Amino acid sequence: MRRETMVKAAIVGATGIVGQQFLVALKDHPWIEIAALAASERSAGRSYKEAITDASSGALRWFCEEPPVEEVMEMPVQNAIEMDISPIDIVFSAIESDQAKILEPKFAVAKPVISTASAFRYDDNVPILIPGINSEHAKLLEVQRKSRGWKGFITPIPNCTTTGLAITLKPIYEAFGLNAVIMTSMQAMSGAGRSPGVLGLDILDNVIPFISGEEEKVQRETQKILGNLEGNSIRPARFDVSCTCTRVNVREGHTESVFVSTQKACEIDDVASAMREYSGSADEADLPSAPKHIIIVLEDPFRPQPRLDRDAEDGMATVVGRIRKDDVLKNGIKYLLVSHNTKMGAAKGAALVAELLIRDGYIS
Ligand SMILES: NC(=O)c1ccc[n+]([C@@H]2O[C@H](COP(=O)([O-])OP(=O)(O)OC[C@H]3O[C@@H](n4cnc5c(N)ncnc54)[C@H](OP(=O)(O)O)[C@@H]3O)[C@@H](O)[C@H]2O)c1
Repeated sequence: MRRETMVKAAIVGATGIVGQQFLVALKDHPWIEIAALAASERSAGRSYKEAITDASSGALRWFCEEPPVEEVMEMPVQNAIEMDISPIDIVFSAIESDQAKILEPKFAVAKPVISTASAFRYDDNVPILIPGINSEHAKLLEVQRKSRGWKGFITPIPNCTTTGLAITLKPIYEAFGLNAVIMTSMQAMSGAGRSPGVLGLDILDNVIPFISGEEEKVQRETQKILGNLEGNSIRPARFDVSCTCTRVNVREGHTESVFVSTQKACEIDDVASAMREYSGSADEADLPSAPKHIIIVLEDPFRPQPRLDRDAEDGMATVVGRIRKDDVLKNGIKYLLVSHNTKMGAAKGAALVAELLIRDGYIS
């Protein structure tokens, strides 16, 4: 249902891949309206359409599957560092971490910032929220506000590779406990963004076996997201996580091969049922961007596939398949997942966090 007073949002990094996905996620949104766009000095002072038009070739560098959002094409793009945020209620940040370190605290002094960047994910009083998985961690935002003397706060979403992993581990962790998790990712090209992103000639006919800093991020974030809020910080979950992160020739949708060692023995059907039955709290399922099923389990042994499954529930569901026993690990189970990296893993996932925080009174 449409809110009487809409929440006014600024999108910082609006010209990039995630920024464009924000425009799509917030088009016709019932609670949030786009009130300002910002990017680097390069784009500042131009209309949005000019800013995403390649100066030499004239090509419109629109990335999303959905058509360009007409309503914003003539909006001006501001220089993020100079942006006046006084008329804004919330800032969505879709910039690289180096810039986020400078810009996000500047905004958070006065306004809530929901970030897709990693700059503050590992700070003590900063939650990494996935609504329906660890919504209760939002309480840390009050601690953050008080300790930093800010009116606003910074709340990052997870790295896009962590998202599907943490979501699918949650029901397993709750039902059977976890000793260890081993994950190998096959990550889409869009995950690297577009400035400059992955070069076509490097990825064509190829798999790139290293993504700088990614494995450490996924390991740390998974434990933090599934950890317990204790006092003024989160005690990370006590299971080991080991990852190998690779880049593959896929446009969108991260595929992950996951092996887990559970504390209690369990059968394949138990894991499939735990995942199917898990849907977060009913309240969160009602948020405008929430998927009906946060996890979808498929029986077909040739699924999930990024091309076929990334768009499930408009890119908001994590799709799981090939759940089977692993005889090498103690109480071993293994499966594959596909998660949409620029929707649930980025812009629409951040919109979902905003909805949770609006509903619970952290943003007005
Ligand atoms: N791609 C994904 O799947 C994904 C998923 C989850 C999280 N993330 C995170 O989301 C963030 C954005 O990623 P992306 O893939 O959208 O990158 P991108 O396509 O390379 O876009 C980068 C954006 O940052 C802007 N920018 C660059 N320097 C700036 C500055 N000094 N001040 C303000 N804006 C500046 C760019 O504006 P100009 O056009 O003016 O240069 C552009 O809008 C990153 O932190 C990334 O790690 C990405």
